Amino acid sequence: MERTLAIIKPDGVKRGLIGELISRLEREGLIIVALKMIWMTKEQAKGFYKVHAGKPFYESVTDFMCSGPCVVMVLEAKRAINTYRKLMGATDYKEAAEGTLRRDYATDIEKNVVHGSDSPQSAAFEVAYFFNELEILKR
Ligand code: CMP
Repeated sequence: MERTLAIIKPDGVKRGLIGELISRLEREGLIIVALKMIWMTKEQAKGFYKVHAGKPFYESVTDFMCSGPCVVMVLEAKRAINTYRKLMGATDYKEAAEGTLRRDYATDIEKNVVHGSDSPQSAAFEVAYFFNELEILKR
């Protein structure tokens, strides 16, 4: 079993998409083993996206991520990272395949509704950034 970190970003929460997005990922066979709603500080958002420090969108995306609450989840499945990344679609919703979450709901390259870990290394960092082991369901 593999774990990945999923976030419903502030645009998804504000637009009332939590239920719809969770239904879509559960239908793909992704099991929620941890879930909470948080409102990040700027410092927390900067720490989360530290791999993007120095990129032109770093200030803006970290402002966006602390502009309202997010839902953060740990998802588990045999190939959770790839399954969830496929379901999300490309970062830029204009390039996202039909039937993906970003194609269906994103409005902007930054306000792209959802986040998912892109590798086992980033999943390990991102899961541990928001959850300790006691908060994650052992099945
Ligand atoms: P995410 O998959 O969470 O990873 C980094 C985030 O930065 C990305 O989704 C977008 O929200 C944002 N992002 C990435 N590239 C750009 C870009 N070129 N312009 C604006 N925002 C971006």
